[in-house]
Order: sequence, then structure tokens, then C-alpha cells
Amino acid sequence: MNFALPEELLLMQRHVREFAQKEIVPIASELDRDPSFPWETLRKMGELGLLGILTPGRFGGAGLDHLSYAVLLEEISAADASHGTIMSVTNGFPQTVLRDYGSSRQQERYLPRLATGEWIGSFCLSEPHAGSDAASMITRAERVPGGFRLTGTKAWVTSGGEAQFYLVMAKTDPSAGARGVSAFIVEKGVEGMYFGRPEEKLGQHAAVTASVTFEACFLPEEALLGPEGQGFVIAMASLDAGRIGIAAQAVGIARAAFDAACHYADERRAFGQAIREFQGVGFRLADMATELEAARLLALRAAWLKDRGYRVTQEASMAKLFASEAASRITHAAVQVFGGYGYSKEFPIERYFRDARVTEIYEGTSEIQRVVISRQIYRERGR
Ligand code: CAA
Repeated sequence: MNFALPEELLLMQRHVREFAQKEIVPIASELDRDPSFPWETLRKMGELGLLGILTPGRFGGAGLDHLSYAVLLEEISAADASHGTIMSVTNGFPQTVLRDYGSSRQQERYLPRLATGEWIGSFCLSEPHAGSDAASMITRAERVPGGFRLTGTKAWVTSGGEAQFYLVMAKTDPSAGARGVSAFIVEKGVEGMYFGRPEEKLGQHAAVTASVTFEACFLPEEALLGPEGQGFVIAMASLDAGRIGIAAQAVGIARAAFDAACHYADERRAFGQAIREFQGVGFRLADMATELEAARLLALRAAWLKDRGYRVTQEASMAKLFASEAASRITHAAVQVFGGYGYSKEFPIERYFRDARVTEIYEGTSEIQRVVISRQIYRERGR
């Protein structure tokens, strides 16, 4: 299963798997039933370097590559998808955008806090009426003396209200479409910033999701991150890496469901034999294993190419599309293997099934991934 991964990464994987099994698995069901933001385990993940995987060592990060990121995110997500989501968002947009576009002042102020887990980061792109069509956002950052005035509401913000760092996309030039969007850093506690009540969701309950409203918030000049008017391109480019992360997360959730189904099919007996000996169950497990492996390979391939400097818009979307839909199919199949117990809260299977579903929605729905892939197909042909 782990062919071709570097020895050092295999060691880290084993270490993180042990950590996740010991620290996260035992609290996952409770967090699902009675959700709270898992600060305690996040702190421990910060100590292990899991919240600054891609951030260079000089800023307190682990300075690892996307391949490591995908492998380690799978491990955390296999233990609990909510931890995986928080980990993916704080590692991704805030830190990679700061690393690639931040001024040295911005990098020095924020990266060490984020990379060590002292602060959690979040990404504010979607709005109540602008999800898939992200460029139609209406949040406005108007120039005022000394900086900008930020007004608008962002929706579905992972870690909204808990995070201390918000990477916010806003229109600085509403007449310029996608080219009129800029990226801003907003710290929690700025005057005029309000959080909505956490959304009540189907799954991933501990990964709090809330709206964030900005009522004429004053942002100083240095809150602008990257060149003015480049925010949309920055967001889209970081979504390429983000989508590799969601693919890895989906693989993690699916793996947990698959492992549980294999174990159960071996233990559970019916009509005088272990149920895995029935072809209907054995073939189902075979399909689950095959899809899981294909999903993992797509995610790792996109990560590997990204590490070699390739633009991976298409590969990341393919990985995210396939892995998220495979995760839904695999968790659905796992419920079936467990029968009535799969539907019961006595086992984590129904949670995997619920947690997997949103991987087909966030960071671009399956439909958006198909839009991106089909556009790239023609772009590669020069059309
Ligand atoms: N890399 C670099 N540049 C890119 C790019 C990429 N992957 N994708 C687009 N761009 C550039 C384009 O080249 C274009 O630049 P020019 O103006 O120079 O030509 C510019 O960005 C605008 O691109 P499009 O014309 O393609 O823009 P569009 O309005 O047609 O939108 C879209 C394209 C693919 C549909 C995009 O809107 C999209 O991905 N939508 C989904 C949004 C999304 O994924 N939201 C998830 C929210 S994040 C989240 O879920 C967070 C969380 O907390 C979990």
C-alpha cells in the first residue's frame, strides 16, 4: 500500500497514526455527539508540527512537502474528519498564501503562530449568495485614509469564531470582476467583526462552521496580502493545493470505514460462516479496496507533481472529484456490510458516512471540479 513513499515519510506516518489512534480516535464519537472545538488535541498536533506542515522551518513550520501533507492528513482524517478539516484549512490557505505572497512583516507576525498551532487560521471566500460562483462575491474593501473599510458577510467559514486569523477575499474594484478581488488579513477581535451561530450540519460537527460579518471594519494598509486585484487568482491557485488536501481527507475517512468493514466482515458470522466468505460481501470489499487505492494514488500523484513545481489545477480537481465521490460510495458500502449496526450510533460507521458527504461539496463541489477539469482539457489542447 505504501510503495514508493520515502522511508522518512513512512516513519512520520507511523508516528502520526499512533498519535491519532491514541489521542483522537477515543474522543471522536463524543465530539460528534456533543461538539466543541478540539483545542486540546489541536495543541498537541501543533507540537507535532501537523499544523504548519508546508511552512518553512524558519517560521516554526515543519517545512515538509505536499506529499507528506497528503499522507499525514489522511492519518488524522482516518481518526476524525473534523480534525482533518481544521488541519487542512489552517495548514492551507492562510499559511501558503502568507508564505508565497506575504511581506516579511506579515510572515514574521503570523506564520510562527499559525504553524505552531497557537493560532488557527481560516479562509473566507464563499458568501451566502456566492458559493460556486466565487467571483460574484459582494464583500467590499473600500480605500479610506490609512487603509481599507471592509463590509460584507462571508459564509461557511471553517473554524469561524474560533480561529484567530482570517484570510478574507473582498472586492477592491467591483467593476473589474475576478480581477477586482484582493486578499486581506483580519485578526479576530477587530471592531465591527461578528460571528454567526455555528451551522448545524449533517457531519463533521467539531469542525465549527460559521458566517463572519464585517460591518465597516477598518483594516490598516498592511492588512492587504499580495498585490491589489490578485486575490481571486491567489485564492484559485491555493485551492489547487487545498483540493489535494480534501482528496487526502476523503481517502482517510474512506479508509477508516473500509478497515472497520473488513474487520466486521471477518468477525460477523451468518449461515455458518464469516460474512466475508459470501461473494456479495467479498466483492463489495474488493470494490471498496480498489476505489480507495485509486483515490489515494490520484491524491498522491497530484501532491507529487505539485512538489515538482507543476501547475496541478487538473490533477488536484481530478483527485478531489474522484476521492470525495469514492469516499461516499465506500462509506455507504460500509454501512451495508454492517447492516443494522452500520445505521446505529453504537459504531462509528454512520459518522464516517455523514462526515464523507461534504467532501463532495466544500472547496468546490463535484460539479465545479468537472467544470475545472473540462476547461483544463481544452486549455492543454491550446483551445
Ligand atoms: N490557478 C491560477 N489561476 C487561476 C486558477 C488556478 N487554479 N483558476 C483560475 N485562475 C485565474 C484565471 O486564469 C483567471 O485569470 P485571468 O483573469 O488572468 O484570465 C482568473 O483566475 C479568473 O478565473 P476564471 O475566469 O476561471 O473564473 P470564473 O469566475 O469562471 O470561476 C471557477 C472559475 C472554477 C468556477 C471558480 O469560481 C471556482 O473554483 N469556484 C468554486 C469556489 C470554491 O471552490 N469555493 C470553495 C470555498 S473554500 C472552502 O470551502 C473553505 C473551507 O473553509 C473548507
